[in-house]
Amino acid sequence: MAVQEILIHPDDRLREIAKPVTFPLSDDTKQIIRDMADTMYDAPGVGLAAPQIGVSLKIAVTDTLWRSDEVRHDPDRPGGTRDLKVWINPEFLWHSDEMATWEEGCLSIPETYADVKRPAAIRLRWFDIDGQQHEKDFDDFQAVALQHEFDHLIGKLFIDYLTPLKRNMITKKMRKLFKE
Ligand code: NI
Repeated sequence: MAVQEILIHPDDRLREIAKPVTFPLSDDTKQIIRDMADTMYDAPGVGLAAPQIGVSLKIAVTDTLWRSDEVRHDPDRPGGTRDLKVWINPEFLWHSDEMATWEEGCLSIPETYADVKRPAAIRLRWFDIDGQQHEKDFDDFQAVALQHEFDHLIGKLFIDYLTPLKRNMITKKMRKLFKE
């Protein structure tokens, strides 16, 4: 297990546009993906993007099963309750006009939650760790979680959807809590 330090907002590295991954994956990149999963489960969180551990690559990991409180509070529960997904070079092909509002949080903005409105459904193209391309539609919580994670790959955070006033308050709170 190699849990990495999660960068906390405000940090310039969270604002960079991540670079596409080339295939086949290098051993370094495979290790980064393992570290991302370890870091996400350790946090615990439902998703983590590479820039959050200071790696500027278009990779995210999610486990939306992790969202259930039952699983979250018993991370070592046997029986394969985990549903780790790795998303490489993801791309949105479509999104619905219908919007949905969910309360979001972020491992890079601890102890902060806010309602964010996003397209309710999306169509996605991405690559898996073997370099195979996939295309699929997602809705409900998965659509939200994926949009949130892939925003990280273009230097965007969920607080960017809030009013400037609210965003500044959160940034100040983070500076106070996590910086000297
Ligand atoms: Ni996040």
